[in-house]
Amino acid sequence: MPELIYAAALGYLLGSIPFGLLLTRMFGAGDLRAIGSGNIGATNVLRTGRRELAAATLLLDLAKALAAVLVARAAWPGSEVFAGAAAVIGHCFPIWLRFKGGKGVACMMGVALGLAWPIGLTYAVVWLGVLALTRISSLGGMAAAISAPIAALAIGRGDYAAVLALLCLLILWLHRENIARLRKGTEPRVGSKA
Ligand code: G3P
Repeated sequence: MPELIYAAALGYLLGSIPFGLLLTRMFGAGDLRAIGSGNIGATNVLRTGRRELAAATLLLDLAKALAAVLVARAAWPGSEVFAGAAAVIGHCFPIWLRFKGGKGVACMMGVALGLAWPIGLTYAVVWLGVLALTRISSLGGMAAAISAPIAALAIGRGDYAAVLALLCLLILWLHRENIARLRKGTEPRVGSKA
């Protein structure tokens, strides 16, 4: 039982590192909270015009969640799914930013990859596929989040599927403003400044 608490604490602390905000501040790309959607994720970093910072944010947000899963699995076998979930929660509700963080899409990719490669592969294919077809980042992210519990079920990991389904619901809820814009047809496409 204490193992689960350690895993959750590790996941939360890693997940709560706001790489998008840190990188844009460090490299003079402006205040991310005052740009575009105000989100701290890679999509909004891209709106600063700094592609390299957006790519780094994407990779680091993914890597912190992947690290949480892999370290927890090595240290406390069986706790990895809790560490991964805590990493996504840490990213979305970081204590350092008064619990106002990102939307969890890149982090969930790291969790999916760390739990089982077929889940990670499905997530990546759905994310990139929908993004390539629509050029709408939120749509790609939400579709990927929905695909994760389905992929977990497909490989017989009902335990992972249950947690991934909860994370998926969280990600959909955090995208409620994006969903409203999608319904109105005003959600910006990647490459636009909105
Ligand atoms: O990962 C976040 C993305 O799905 C949406 O970002 O800035 O367009 O709300 P944003």
